[in-house]
Amino acid sequence: MEKLVIEGGVPLKGEVVVSGAKNAVLPILAATLLTDEPCIIKGAPFLRDTNTMLKILRSLGKECAFHHGAIAVESTGEHSFVADYKLVSTMRASFCVLGPLIAKLKKAKVSLPGGCVIGVRPVDLHLKGVKHLGVDIDINGGYVFAKAKHLRGAQIYLGGEFGSSVLATDNVMMTAVLAKGKTIIESAACEPEVTDLAEFLIKMGAKIKGHGTPTIEIEGVKELHGAEHKIIPDRIEAGTLIIASLITRGNITLKNVHIGHQGALLNKLQEIGAIIKKDGDRLNVTAKRKLEPVNITTLPYPGFPTDMQAQMMSLMAVTPGISIITEKIYQDRFMHVAELNRMGARIQREGPHAIIEGVKSLSGAAVMASDLRASASLVLAGLVAKGKSAVSRIYHLERGYENFDEKLRKLGARVWREKE
Ligand code: UD1
Repeated sequence: MEKLVIEGGVPLKGEVVVSGAKNAVLPILAATLLTDEPCIIKGAPFLRDTNTMLKILRSLGKECAFHHGAIAVESTGEHSFVADYKLVSTMRASFCVLGPLIAKLKKAKVSLPGGCVIGVRPVDLHLKGVKHLGVDIDINGGYVFAKAKHLRGAQIYLGGEFGSSVLATDNVMMTAVLAKGKTIIESAACEPEVTDLAEFLIKMGAKIKGHGTPTIEIEGVKELHGAEHKIIPDRIEAGTLIIASLITRGNITLKNVHIGHQGALLNKLQEIGAIIKKDGDRLNVTAKRKLEPVNITTLPYPGFPTDMQAQMMSLMAVTPGISIITEKIYQDRFMHVAELNRMGARIQREGPHAIIEGVKSLSGAAVMASDLRASASLVLAGLVAKGKSAVSRIYHLERGYENFDEKLRKLGARVWREKE
């Protein structure tokens, strides 16, 4: 295992290219199961999670090759319908092979993903959605057994207690594309990654309308064919780099940004005093000398993303004044609070709220990454802390950030890997 050592205090400067979106590439790779024809996915980020999805596809009968950001997926002619616990338990997004397996093979045995440190993460909406399409579901021994004689379109309300679900929308959409007749998903997730999946499915021959809105209409087709697709830029990686610029009082220009996907984050950052200059797919970020505190509530897209909550907390931790962050998607997504406090932050958790009293400076410390976005928040804190920080368990970071330490080094950060 490796840890990331960071010597804080360097204002980051220069240009950096944002990678393709993790949350888009994973379901899109799963969607290749819907055809036996070859597919090519371009602009794919080389991540631990991408690799896990490729392992799953191989276990289900695909041959996958990854060269310079392009993934070629071909069928071996053999089909398995079993997604094993070992692979699904390491990455929740693996559960989105359920929809394509049911659609193509009319049966699936997929391990339940289980919970994780950011809270209970049920799959009731996924199961409710596919049941409406005519799928029989049985849960036994930690696995979902799904089978269907005929898939038929249906009207499905997919909203849950915490709003819409990204992967449930993906799963239902991928089942409905091969169902007979029309499916209407109400309260569908509007995240850009869901839209990207829909665009890929359309290239494969699916008939989908309304993606990107809460009502998605799908007219089932008999079969899908191979397709080529380029993954959208990762809005969470971009957001994390934007905060790296602000927290170090640097001057970073990001390339390959879909600015339309960053609305809620940029709005808040401008409110606190960031200077954002947009130019096509480039974004330059600097800060006024003094930033202001702010209140934030995480919400489904187009609201403020829960995947940016931890990174924003690091920024507010060094912004004098009181900021309040309210987490509305994952009640327990606060593992980073205790670690940030070890670095001198003053953050108190009260239920779904984190009350942050901004301090003048943080001090370097040994801290532990607990999940993907928490690990990014600790790296950000390390970039501004006085002295050395060591972030252990960086495999969490590698799940979702492509070459992150290398990108930071190119921007001038003093950051390197050491054995734990
Ligand atoms: C996706 C993202 C993840 C992001 C999250 C919320 C991927 C691979 N991951 O995860 O990075 O943090 O969206 O934006 O795209 N829920 C239920 N029942 C369900 C499913 C979800 O109650 O069947 C709840 C969840 O517990 C959570 C909320 O709905 O409170 C939203 O979760 P969801 O959108 O499903 O998250 P994921 O799709 O797993």
